[in-house]
Amino acid sequence: ETTTMEEKLLADESDKHLPPPCRLYEGTLADFVFAIVTAALFIDVTVLTLYDLKTTDFSRLLPELSAVVDGAAGLDSRVPRAFNLTLSIDSGIRDEQCVGGEAVVLYRGVPLATGAVQELCVPVNSTGQVAIFAASGGVGLPTELAEQMADEKRDGGAVWLEVRVISVKHRLLTCTASLHGGAGPQPPCDSRLLRDESDGVEKASVY
Ligand SMILES: *[C@@H]1O[C@H](CO)[C@@H](O)[C@H](O)[C@H]1NC(C)=O
Ligand SMILES: *[C@@H]1O[C@H](CO)[C@@H](O)[C@H](O)[C@H]1NC(C)=O
Repeated sequence: ETTTMEEKLLADESDKHLPPPCRLYEGTLADFVFAIVTAALFIDVTVLTLYDLKTTDFSRLLPELSAVVDGAAGLDSRVPRAFNLTLSIDSGIRDEQCVGGEAVVLYRGVPLATGAVQELCVPVNSTGQVAIFAASGGVGLPTELAEQMADEKRDGGAVWLEVRVISVKHRLLTCTASLHGGAGPQPPCDSRLLRDESDGVEKASVY
């Protein structure tokens, strides 16, 4: 009796040690399916990413702003200094872009005229323009600047003015514009956050 019991137990034990063939097969199949699905997902993601990379216009990821001088007076004549400018805004494909505040026209770091800039928000992926009239009580240029400008003109080069657009609410723009405008696209403005830290509190969030 005992022998049979032991034999039976042993037989049971050895049965337990046998790997269940069916489960082994299932495991392999599951692994196989998992591998296929993973590969398919990987290919899918890769193709989608490549497609996105191909169709995204990276040149329009960031906003681009530029200033053009449409007209100027009073630099070499005895009439009040004045500038007509156009600020062009391409908002890019990420955020709307707002301008507004005050413009200052400088030559070689010397302010020549100032003017108000109307508030304008250009929606994402759009373009807009703001006309700026900047004027000053003065006429002509300080002698040194007038000589430098005359030299630049004589050398056949463009006379570059700097246009800063300053506003508490928006970004500080620093643009370069040729005095005689029109000569092709103007360089893009440099744009940076204005931070008023005069009272020790950073107000970067006003943006
Ligand atoms: C600026 O534009 C206004 C309106 O078009 C014009 O009357 C004025 O003469 C212009 N001034 C200059 C300096 O171009
Ligand atoms: C931007 O606008 C153009 C058409 O003006 C459109 O083809 C493009 O899909 C737009 N891009 C985004 C990111 O909205």
